Amino acid sequence: MTENDFLPGNYQNLPVKGKVAWKAPSNIALVKYWGKRPVQMPANPSISFTLDTCATTTSVAFEKNNSNTGFSFDLFFEGKPKDDFKPKIQTFLERIEKYLPFLKEYYFTIETSNSFPHSSGIASSASGMAALSLCLMDIEKQLDHALDEASFYAKASHLARLGSGSACRSIKGSLVQWGGHNNIPNSSDVYGIEYPFEVNPVFRTYCDTILLVHKGQKQVSSTVGHQLMHGHPYAENRFQQAFDNLDKLKPILASGDLEEFIKLVESEALTLHAMMMTSMPYFILMKPDTLEIINKIWEYRETTKIPVCFTLDAGANVHLLYPEAEKEKVRDFIKNTLAKHCENGQYIHDQVGQGAIKINT
Ligand code: DP6
Repeated sequence: MTENDFLPGNYQNLPVKGKVAWKAPSNIALVKYWGKRPVQMPANPSISFTLDTCATTTSVAFEKNNSNTGFSFDLFFEGKPKDDFKPKIQTFLERIEKYLPFLKEYYFTIETSNSFPHSSGIASSASGMAALSLCLMDIEKQLDHALDEASFYAKASHLARLGSGSACRSIKGSLVQWGGHNNIPNSSDVYGIEYPFEVNPVFRTYCDTILLVHKGQKQVSSTVGHQLMHGHPYAENRFQQAFDNLDKLKPILASGDLEEFIKLVESEALTLHAMMMTSMPYFILMKPDTLEIINKIWEYRETTKIPVCFTLDAGANVHLLYPEAEKEKVRDFIKNTLAKHCENGQYIHDQVGQGAIKINT
């Protein structure tokens, strides 16, 4: 499927009003997306675990608007008007209008809330853009009854990508791959797909505890970080490494070889941050506690032989990944040893999830 396949036919009988709602999860990348081309095309393929507990719920009420001049919407975050989110939504609507030409026909009331604490420092753009895209697709489904399920989800992922790249991996579970790769059938730069190869059951229930090291505003946004991959001295090698890592992951995911899994995942996380440290201008998003945690994980793994590892997103927080069978021991380790490195001792236990769900309105 290409982007043109997402252009709709003619709509008839636009409903006068209605309301839809979806809950979409966050995701954590194993092979990272870092670097892009216009518009929102990844420089390399990536793959992520879909999460479960960390999610955004969004409802969209729509009402026919006779003026039809521009986009018309109001936005509420956790019950309160949120005008500073509006420019991002405006840009998003502009980008997706050609795929959903009914958008200017309506006035929308968008209400959104996160399952995780507001000031946790967890980026909600992936789950937020995924939930909003699913709501808008749900409206389109009411206009085009012939839209089949596979096309519905592929187009929702495509729209979400135009809002935030990693959001296209927050539609389905439990492992989602995004970015064209010759050895992955049906992989695409324009939307995420459910990982098509064998996945060992150990990964279907994998746990992810998010250690909230730093809850403040990031020094450099992901958007700026992606841009700094243009002209970056290591960019081409890094992009090739991501392609190769997806090949290497295939037998690892099938066999459940946790030793190899750990090597690949931790190397990806550190490479992501190495790209930040070697861009111009350079920057560091890790904090001293990020490094303390990493060292303690390595020490714990060495002494206990429990296969726990870390990954990082574009920030100081640490995602601790471990098999469900080790849950009790690892959670004791977190409580007793790692929590003191988290801001206000805060962390969130999450696990691999099944993807977004529709909420009855
Ligand atoms: C480090 O998806 O947040 O989390 O497309 O500019 O919205 P935009 O970027 P975003 O980048 C995510 C980067 C990452 C790695 C990943 O999730 O693959």
